[in-house]
Amino acid sequence: MTGEDFDIQVSFRHRIRFTRGAFSPDNDLLSGLLETRGHSKALVFIEEGLREFFPNLEGSIQDYFSDIPGLRLAGVEWLPGAEAAKKDDRVYQSAMAAIEHHHIDRHSYVMVIGGGAFLDVIGYAAATGHRGVRLVRFPTTTLSQDDSGVGVKNGINAFGKKNFIGAFAVPYAVVNDFLFLHTQPELTRRAGLIEAVKVALVKDEAFFNWLEANVIALRNLEEPVLEEAVQRSAIHHARHIALGGDPFELGSSRPLDYGHWAAHKLEQLTDFELSHGEAVSVGVALDSLYAAKVGLLPMADAERILKVIESLDLPLWHEALELRDGSGRRRVFNGLEEFREHLGGELTVLLLKSLGTGIDAHEIDEAVWEQCAEELKSRALSLAA
Ligand SMILES: NC(=O)c1ccc[n+]([C@@H]2O[C@H](COP(=O)([O-])OP(=O)(O)OC[C@H]3O[C@@H](n4cnc5c(N)ncnc54)[C@H](O)[C@@H]3O)[C@@H](O)[C@H]2O)c1
Ligand SMILES: [Zn+2]
Repeated sequence: MTGEDFDIQVSFRHRIRFTRGAFSPDNDLLSGLLETRGHSKALVFIEEGLREFFPNLEGSIQDYFSDIPGLRLAGVEWLPGAEAAKKDDRVYQSAMAAIEHHHIDRHSYVMVIGGGAFLDVIGYAAATGHRGVRLVRFPTTTLSQDDSGVGVKNGINAFGKKNFIGAFAVPYAVVNDFLFLHTQPELTRRAGLIEAVKVALVKDEAFFNWLEANVIALRNLEEPVLEEAVQRSAIHHARHIALGGDPFELGSSRPLDYGHWAAHKLEQLTDFELSHGEAVSVGVALDSLYAAKVGLLPMADAERILKVIESLDLPLWHEALELRDGSGRRRVFNGLEEFREHLGGELTVLLLKSLGTGIDAHEIDEAVWEQCAEELKSRALSLAA
């Protein structure tokens, strides 16, 4: 037998920026970020739902690009976003057709402005058109600015499974423009904060303490506090991806997926009625209480986490947790098997051993978990009463 192994190393630069009014004429952040070669083009995709909130956005983009030497605005395409855009490949195909129509090449840019779902679809088109063109993301929701938009995953749903088709690709840049944050529906604005709580719990106790101390201002969506939470969370997520040793998730350990095994299943069980943020909020509550019940995390710390979630007016429990299969087992537990399949190895669920530190667990005691679900149910119902 003959042959040889080659190590191929490719390095990526992950550019994360924060600004306000990226397309204002006097804001040179974006123009300073782009490399232009005299014939570079930009094709901008905007989520249709933003039109009513930002009626002048397209005009501002046209004016902004008319002033960048060496770069031409090829077009602005408005397409539908939100979870429906990921349910099949129609939006993806429209984006691909636009990339082809405008002759976007590997020295040009696809730019995308929208919520996490829209970023996922257009990101997938950018990652696959010409086998990958440069992508600049402008996330417009709390969740996409503080988590998904600074990530390296793109995709759409298929076969009833979330993000079944997709590609890992490092975007050319991510521009978090705080101006977008303040028009979101109130619940969307708040729910995305759970990803900041999540990353604080697995990475940074001081950040958790800060979130806890500012929880009322956060619930009231006070702009400077919301923006600081978003920025700190985004940097934590990006740092983990860049320096955590597994950017394309080949291993089974996924600290950024804390609380997510139940969350993904709950989204599916509710046919996506429950948003990602709300589902993660339930998942984080469950896994935190679980860690305390199995003796990993002090109960007082679990209580602090539950209080923060409650104070943000986010759910600790959802009725879909009650759904059971023919054998009486909670259907959410199938999420564990699906999580294992998704990881492609042994089951690995991150649990907390202290605020700011996680530990990988390889099994879940369903009986203890049952108790947690029951306890959170009574707590949620008594709060609602
Ligand atoms: N790629 C990843 O790593 C990753 C990680 C986590 C979540 N996600 C995905 O992100 C999606 C959820 O993203 P999301 O929470 O941003 O929700 P979303 O994209 O579904 O947007 C929520 C709603 O807000 C509207 N909207 C968006 N920005 C707005 C603004 N500035 N003003 C007014 N309305 C606005 C949208 O039209 C939509 O109706 C899910 O599909 C989830 O799977 C992806
Ligand atoms: Zn998430």
